[in-house]
Amino acid sequence: MADDGLNEIIGDLYPYRSTSTTYRRVPAEPVDRATILAEITGMAHGEDERGDKGTVSGSLYCGDHDHYRFLGEVFDLYSHANVLQRDMYPSATKFEGEIIAMTSDLLHGTGKGVITGGGSESLITALYSYREHARKTRGVTRPNVVKPVTAHVALDKGAHWLGIEMRRSPLTDDYLADVGAMAEMVDDQTIAVIGSAANYAHGLIDPIEEIAELAQSRGIGMHVDGCLGGWLLPWVERLGYELPLWDFRVPGVTSISADTHKYGYALKGSSVLLYRDNELRRQQYFAFPDWPGGLYLSPGFAGSRSGGIIASTWAALLATGESGFLAAADGIMRTATTIRDGIRDGIPELEVIGEPVFLIAFKAAGDLDIYLVNDALIAQGWRMNPLQLPAALHFCITRPNTEPGLAEAFLEALRGAVEYARQHKGEPARSGAVYGFGGTPQGNALVESVMVRLLDAMHDTAPEAPAS
Ligand SMILES: Cc1ncc(COP(=O)(O)O)c(C=O)c1O
Repeated sequence: MADDGLNEIIGDLYPYRSTSTTYRRVPAEPVDRATILAEITGMAHGEDERGDKGTVSGSLYCGDHDHYRFLGEVFDLYSHANVLQRDMYPSATKFEGEIIAMTSDLLHGTGKGVITGGGSESLITALYSYREHARKTRGVTRPNVVKPVTAHVALDKGAHWLGIEMRRSPLTDDYLADVGAMAEMVDDQTIAVIGSAANYAHGLIDPIEEIAELAQSRGIGMHVDGCLGGWLLPWVERLGYELPLWDFRVPGVTSISADTHKYGYALKGSSVLLYRDNELRRQQYFAFPDWPGGLYLSPGFAGSRSGGIIASTWAALLATGESGFLAAADGIMRTATTIRDGIRDGIPELEVIGEPVFLIAFKAAGDLDIYLVNDALIAQGWRMNPLQLPAALHFCITRPNTEPGLAEAFLEALRGAVEYARQHKGEPARSGAVYGFGGTPQGNALVESVMVRLLDAMHDTAPEAPAS
């Protein structure tokens, strides 16, 4: 990418640099609270506007500001509490234990689990537990994990951090894990196999029963990434939709991650990692009796944690209740079905990927540039998630998308966007510009260097605003 393009993207990271003071050091005198609140309120309301319209894929799972306000009230009571100090905050034990119990009940678990700060932390923690378990029980020194290429990239990050080799297996023609290919990648250093329910890219549920059978036959563990679907699919099943089994009812599934901060409608910063047995859970515990600072014990990656997240997650599950989760799942499924069928039956230029449940991924059926379609959707205020390998878009349906008429409005916008892409065939797409570099070693190196520069920029204060 030319430097100009990158500078423009970096510039877009700082929309407030011309309207707001950029603090490069602590202000000499306190800024009064009303000023701070007014500024933050302006930013928050402005940024919420788009999501509240319901035209955004994923990201916002609940969208109900009354619910957020209530969770905020609960958060407020414990925001300052450090749940590491259980003598001071025994309520954290109640909240955590009950969040784990409710998740375990939903997924037919054994009640063994931990709370983490999010999906990635749950996945990476699971990798750590499998690595330690395999090292101690089987003497594995060169650990590897086998996952379908679509399983979440946080697993690749975790493997990178933990010195685990990640083996990525191809998909079947139905975009599901190819279990035969996975079997060929398993060897005596494999610590676990992975499947998703559902995966991020295409929203598809891998053949969990087959993968679990493979795991059992090789005497290794199996993690199911239910970060996205874990708090939604059980309700979808209860509504009578036919789904394959994917939770602890499947023998051979030894751990599942399920994010409360997605379809559990909790505030951001919570996920549940469930284990079938306690021996595996204990791998992640850390107890150190010889520290001058005292006897130290900690269940996972984090040290101090805010009681606010734990209390508000517990409150979110209670305040939604079975009937609330079922009603939400019903709306989500109706919207998803309308969109899926609308594309399949009414837009021949597009192809729905696989048999989706609540997240609809679609690609061009012919030589249409799907990123041009995305350009036109963006221009109309829709925010899809762009995918690659193959080039596609997905619409992850959440509660804000279930407003009456929204699915139909989306289909109409999509038809218009396809027409736009047809008319602008051959022109470079704006939204897919970076993708064109990917997929080749040279291109990937370039993309990586651009991405690293973006990460640097995200952690910098705003550069001076350009003179207007
Ligand atoms: C299937 C799946 N797994 C894991 C994650 C990672 O979760 P988080 O972003 O909370 O770390 C996501 C996020 O979208 C996901 O969809």
